[in-house]
Amino acid sequence: MLLLLVAFATGAAAEEPENPFTSAIDVRMGQRQFQSKCTSCHGLDATGGEEADGPDLTTGRFQHASTDAGLHDVIRDGIEGTSMRGLRRAGDQEIWQLVTYLRTLSDAVDLAALPGSPEAGRAVFERLDCERCHMVEGRGGRLGPDLSRVGGRRDPEELARDLTEPSAEVAPRWWTVRVTRADGTVIEGLRMGEDTFNLRIMDGEEGLRSFTKASLRSVERGRKSTMPAEPLADAERDDLVAYLASLRGSDS
Ligand code: HEC
Ligand code: HEC
Repeated sequence: MLLLLVAFATGAAAEEPENPFTSAIDVRMGQRQFQSKCTSCHGLDATGGEEADGPDLTTGRFQHASTDAGLHDVIRDGIEGTSMRGLRRAGDQEIWQLVTYLRTLSDAVDLAALPGSPEAGRAVFERLDCERCHMVEGRGGRLGPDLSRVGGRRDPEELARDLTEPSAEVAPRWWTVRVTRADGTVIEGLRMGEDTFNLRIMDGEEGLRSFTKASLRSVERGRKSTMPAEPLADAERDDLVAYLASLRGSDS
């Protein structure tokens, strides 16, 4: 694994927060807000304004954001130089609820049009023990992102690439750290928290370890994914993609 050496001085990089407000009630609250604040430009059904210039928000793809956290920031901060103004005075909860509502609008990927089968993909997922690192509907590990709604945020091509080139695009949340203690022992894992003096790591067994930076001989950071690139047959990959695309979360 290629590791980057970085000086101690860097503080904690921002981790991508997950949307904490995704229940059916949040959808409804978000919709209500959308109707009062956004339809003048984005249209009553969010497919784009006729007179105003707000773009279609129902395609499932956004130019200015790919994650929930990114959408949150677009709604809060607006888009400079356009009529899209941020909701600077709104509470964080209201903004997340708008994100939740917008996520329900995207046309579901037409699963029937995909070459693979979600059922077969689920079996591959179990056989390859993807659950060791990934949670789906509350079951599985925490060494990778929760996949319960991955079909809502990644399109099939992106999902295929997630499987074949895991390191192509790795959010800071999943970067790794390797610390060497004064006695020479090495511990490697995901960086869970960091400030000027301390560093917390989740090791491969999901154990949380805390270190005082001053007590460490070195800290190395890696930006590659810890996810193994499984050699998949084309049919297996298609089935996995179909299964992942079908994971769109439940409303509760
Ligand atoms: C005064 C008109 C106006 C209002 C009101 C407005 N928007 Fe926008 N919005 C725009 C325009 C114009 C853009 C496109 C900016 C650009 O990229 O050129 C945009 C872009 C966006 C985007 C990014 C789309 C993308 O593809 O990345 C989101 C998300 C969005 N608006 C959500 C909202 C929400 C939620 C509200 C209500 C809280 C809202 N907007 C209210 C005009 C508006
Ligand atoms: C050793 C732990 C581990 C295993 C095993 C693993 N993954 Fe991952 N996976 C990760 C990590 C960490 C990430 C986030 C970094 C990245 O993008 O690669 C990730 C990312 C993903 C993503 C992108 C998720 C998103 O939100 O962008 C998908 C899809 C995925 N994995 C599917 C799978 C499938 C399917 C399997 C089984 C074949 C699998 N993973 C096995 C650790 C793992």
